[in-house]
Amino acid sequence: MTNSAAVVNDLRVNRGGRDVLKGITFKIESGTVTGLLGPSGCGKTTLMRALVGVQIVEGGEITVLGKPAGHKELRSRIGYATQNPAIYPDITVTEALTYFASVLRAPASDVSRVIDEVDLTSHADAIIGQLSGGQLSRANLAVALLGKPELLILDEPTVGLDPVLRDELWKLFTELSQRGVTLLVSSHVMDEATRCEHLLLLREGDLLASESPDELRDRTGETDLERAFLRLIKDTVP
Ligand SMILES: Nc1ncnc2c1ncn2[C@@H]1O[C@H](COP(=O)(O)OP(=O)(O)OP(=O)(O)O)[C@@H](O)[C@H]1O
Ligand SMILES: [Mg+2]
Repeated sequence: MTNSAAVVNDLRVNRGGRDVLKGITFKIESGTVTGLLGPSGCGKTTLMRALVGVQIVEGGEITVLGKPAGHKELRSRIGYATQNPAIYPDITVTEALTYFASVLRAPASDVSRVIDEVDLTSHADAIIGQLSGGQLSRANLAVALLGKPELLILDEPTVGLDPVLRDELWKLFTELSQRGVTLLVSSHVMDEATRCEHLLLLREGDLLASESPDELRDRTGETDLERAFLRLIKDTVP
């Protein structure tokens, strides 16, 4: 048996005539927090969509929790928070989560648990359309936490959050991974990379690194991860 939550082999994706993922291969170990980092447009969201099974792929194999990506059985085992929240704006946070909980067949008690986990208890009765950007992204994250999925795929969950909230969310991510949940978290803020056990660094559809922050520091001779990433780009691009 494998200990990998996801195994991706030679994944190629073309979007709008452009090679967006150019044959990437990596594994995500179970119970870890993996950071998916890279500049805007490098293919982070596309890669996440491929793992969730909603992206048409050109080639390669993707196995998620022992099944091919997109397998029916995976629906309740993966929590996916998209980059742009798509929650009906006219209902309250609690109503929205109650709806999603019933769709996902998650217990009703999950609603207050996830609202608390993302620190939205004070806005549980607020209308979705009236939330601030950071509150909305936390409501979106709460949906992904419903039903206690084994794998969480979170697309830039901390964008627009202040440092205190960001810190709290990263603590939550670490806590979840300690409970055995596997997390893939995208970001283009390199300081978030230090909070991850494993890093995937993407650039223009190529995977420049799949290693721990320490391995990346050792390999590049840079202590600062942002500089390490820049060093990697300099060394790999002729
Ligand atoms: N619906 C689409 N049709 C055609 N091309 C697309 C589509 N969505 C994204 N792309 C292209 O695919 C490439 C990768 O986009 P993707 O959204 O995966 O990047 P990203 O790393 O998530 O960027 P960001 O950090 O800005 O969210 C970009 O060149 C983008 O223009
Ligand atoms: Mg994106």
